[in-house]
Amino acid sequence: MKAKQTVISAPLIVGCWQLDDRSWTAIPANDVERTIDTYLAWGIAHFDTADIYGRSERLLGQILKDRSDCTLLTKAVFFGSEPTPNQVRGKIENSLRQLQRDCLDCVQVHWHDPQIDFAQTLELLTKFQDEGKIRQLGATNFDVPMLKRALEYAPIATHQVQYSLVDRRVENGMAALCQEFGIGLLPYGPLAGGFLSDKFLSMATPPPESSHARGFYYSSMVAAHGGWPPLQELLHAIAQVARKYELTIAQVALKWVAQQPGVLAPVVGFTQHRQQIEQNVSALKSEIAPADLEFLSERSAQLLQQPGDIYSYERK
Ligand SMILES: NC(=O)c1ccc[n+]([C@@H]2O[C@H](COP(=O)([O-])OP(=O)(O)OC[C@H]3O[C@@H](n4cnc5c(N)ncnc54)[C@H](OP(=O)(O)O)[C@@H]3O)[C@@H](O)[C@H]2O)c1
Repeated sequence: MKAKQTVISAPLIVGCWQLDDRSWTAIPANDVERTIDTYLAWGIAHFDTADIYGRSERLLGQILKDRSDCTLLTKAVFFGSEPTPNQVRGKIENSLRQLQRDCLDCVQVHWHDPQIDFAQTLELLTKFQDEGKIRQLGATNFDVPMLKRALEYAPIATHQVQYSLVDRRVENGMAALCQEFGIGLLPYGPLAGGFLSDKFLSMATPPPESSHARGFYYSSMVAAHGGWPPLQELLHAIAQVARKYELTIAQVALKWVAQQPGVLAPVVGFTQHRQQIEQNVSALKSEIAPADLEFLSERSAQLLQQPGDIYSYERK
């Protein structure tokens, strides 16, 4: 099936979880603005945020209020019991207010507990889409049974899932399902929070980084997929390809994700390093022979485990 019409028209989306100053080291608002200018200067005008990313929606709204050419993806995150229609409406209205938009470009639903029925909520969000409050509906972290059921209630166009050379659980059925229904994959964590970079090559143990997503989210993911020694072997394999093309490890890892079937655009976390921004943009324009990308797929399959469906251990 052909991909559905989508608001995604860029090869790269900037992930703005990093702007949540409750969880991560606070980036001063002026620096956020300056960095966003750098992204825009590089032609990157798609930003991913969420209702649960602290000040992230508000900052993006303030900085980009006059930039209708920018595409802002947000998330509606539902934990716990089934929300009332008023709560769902309240969430959407709040995101509209924070992002200073009349219409949300894309609302990606995260539904934490599959035991709680989401039919009514998805139907309501579809109604908001019909009313012009939402341009596109997406999902994030749905597993295969959840996404199949969700498609009965909402025209989901994109699915944001963790996908990298370290985490390939999407290949256990989800990628095929998305391709069957024309749903574009938006891989998050394509650099495993930055672990897939030269910074960590030959490092004996991961450094403690309590105020970086790496130290919390991605280090447990690395552990669940086999641990630090196999990750190091994988980094050496990526470095071998990187040397051949005069690229960095992060560039090769990013290009690998972007080239996977069904991928629309990877969501790469916000970085203040201009050089990293430039590298990420140019990585997607680089050419790596399919045989070298296949070599990396094989090495990652040999070295790491891919336990279960999307978001299986995180949901627990
Ligand atoms: N849907 C969900 O449940 C969910 C979950 C997690 C994330 N997300 C979204 O996905 C976005 C991206 O994921 P992520 O940030 O968690 O992981 P990521 O994109 O794999 O890693 C981003 C980090 O990698 C480092 N980096 C970026 N470019 C680099 C380069 N060229 N070379 C070396 N290091 C580089 C930066 O950290 P340093 O420079 O500090 O090292 C950056 O913060 C998030 O911002 C968020 O929007 C969604």
